Amino acid sequence: MKKLVLGLAATVALALTGSAQAQSKYPEKPITMIVPFAAGGPTDIIARIVGENMSKTLGQQVVIENVAGAGGTTGITRALTATPDGYTIAMGHLGTFSAAPATYPGLKYDPINGMQPIGLAGGTPILIVARKNFEPKDLKEFVAYVKTNTDKVNEAHAGVGSVSWTTCTLLKGQLGVPKLNAVAYRGTGPALNDLVSGQIDFMCDQIVSVAEQVKADTIKAYAIASTERSPALPNVPTTKEAGLPEYQIEAWNGIAAPKGTPKEVVDRLVDALDKALKDEGVKKRLLDLGTVMPSAEERTPAGFGALIKRDADKLSPTLAAAPK
Ligand code: MLT
Repeated sequence: MKKLVLGLAATVALALTGSAQAQSKYPEKPITMIVPFAAGGPTDIIARIVGENMSKTLGQQVVIENVAGAGGTTGITRALTATPDGYTIAMGHLGTFSAAPATYPGLKYDPINGMQPIGLAGGTPILIVARKNFEPKDLKEFVAYVKTNTDKVNEAHAGVGSVSWTTCTLLKGQLGVPKLNAVAYRGTGPALNDLVSGQIDFMCDQIVSVAEQVKADTIKAYAIASTERSPALPNVPTTKEAGLPEYQIEAWNGIAAPKGTPKEVVDRLVDALDKALKDEGVKKRLLDLGTVMPSAEERTPAGFGALIKRDADKLSPTLAAAPK
């Protein structure tokens, strides 16, 4: 009997050593980072900038896969239900991790209790942007125009639960115009093309994808919904300066893995993200696009997890009751 127990213990020890060795060799093949929106939008842009540098640290390519649909929940579901081995991770955001659970009652993932946060990749301030020749000249005129033209104004968003949907839902709630003609896209990248070509009137979007277009004057920005102006767009007033102080919302993008991902693997991903965000070239590219660099705490799984929960608690009551 004693021999049998010892034999079993030896087998278990061997198996554990084997799995630890396998994990310490991680990664042995490319890692897929799922972006749950179309290419060219803010999530895709941040994932590609950060992922490229993480590939150098990890010694394996981080391959971006765009899996769009259902406000980002299709791609995040795929990532979070994958084998928890570190080879499938996701770049999500305020929408997919903090807003979607309140907007999709049957959601197949739980960002608070059923996910392994890796870390925040960047804060992404929200701008109210419009096609260049949209009648209202400034935010005050925009507010008055939207209130009196609810059946006429077209709003673009990236699906229920996305950041653009969430942040415009909050805006419309504050303006008392819960329903406008909303057009859903597979991401704000394609929506931005239609804004530039004048087919859509306005949207609420993350600074990362619109900054260049605002600078190039192909679209106009009424305001940034942050307490401070962005160094990337110093001429765009804050909502407070432009006459709508109650409209303040901070969006963000961050990386997560399926729950159950081994700690050694999580540590490698956390380290690779941290190194990417410390890299001067990466920092410059992100800052030029208006990204707010995450604090040391927010780059950790615990800090990022706390941010996801804080924003979910804040947004859930309003979003659960909002028209979909
Ligand atoms: C995108 O990458 O297209 C956006 O993050 C979509 C959104 O959530 O508005």
